[in-house]
Amino acid sequence: MVRKKQLPIFPDDYIEDKAVEYNRSKWMERNQKRTTSLTIQYLFDEKLNNKNGTGIKLGDSFLILDLGCGTGYSSEILIQNGFKVVGIDILYDMLSKAREKKKSSKDLKTLELILADINFLPIRVNSVDHIISISSYNFITHKIENFGENVKLLNDTGKYINKILKQNGRVVIEFYPQDDNELKIFNKSFINNGFEGFMVKNNPNQKSGQTFLLLKKKM
Ligand SMILES: C[S@@+](CC[C@H](N)C(=O)[O-])C[C@H]1O[C@@H](n2cnc3c(N)ncnc32)[C@H](O)[C@@H]1O
Repeated sequence: MVRKKQLPIFPDDYIEDKAVEYNRSKWMERNQKRTTSLTIQYLFDEKLNNKNGTGIKLGDSFLILDLGCGTGYSSEILIQNGFKVVGIDILYDMLSKAREKKKSSKDLKTLELILADINFLPIRVNSVDHIISISSYNFITHKIENFGENVKLLNDTGKYINKILKQNGRVVIEFYPQDDNELKIFNKSFINNGFEGFMVKNNPNQKSGQTFLLLKKKM
């Protein structure tokens, strides 16, 4: 029998001593950083380019939001790749670890960190070039049991993410939908709210498991 991999529990697995443990884990660091590097490649995927072949180029100076930045592994890789980064996380225990890293590292001086909810982003309309989110987007509906409310929250968030992006803005979300239904409502919250794109899975036959949504703001 194939056992389903257990997803972490939010917020329990990211507070107090669990946040300390997360931040000390070399495995977690490697894993988050590797996924972020892959996400950066997906951000520049040529299949997202316009019909005439034009698109964005690695090396241009972009402002990127890292949604659910946790203790800052993904933000660190983004900065190493030359981006200006604003990391956003809802949990003080996680964000304070990222703040400690910023204080002690010259390379992270430009990193901006905001304690906030992805569903209520304190970010101005038309102010961000691109957005990524690594292993965090799953959790944004954690408080809600009701299917209709879930869909509404995701749609409202997708809509506002579209508004804060500048023209040609792209979004790559790496997450772990539990099943086909969850995958569908997360995907639709972008596709029905001004985005186009496609998804990539390690195992295309598997509905749950690691999924990347590669999206761009429609012209
Ligand atoms: C697996 S961790 C983040 C990993 C992060 N990419 C890193 O490099 O460390 C998931 C994070 O998502 C954050 N999160 C969950 N729900 C959120 C929400 N609604 N708004 C902002 N952050 C959220 C959690 O607090 C947690 O820090």
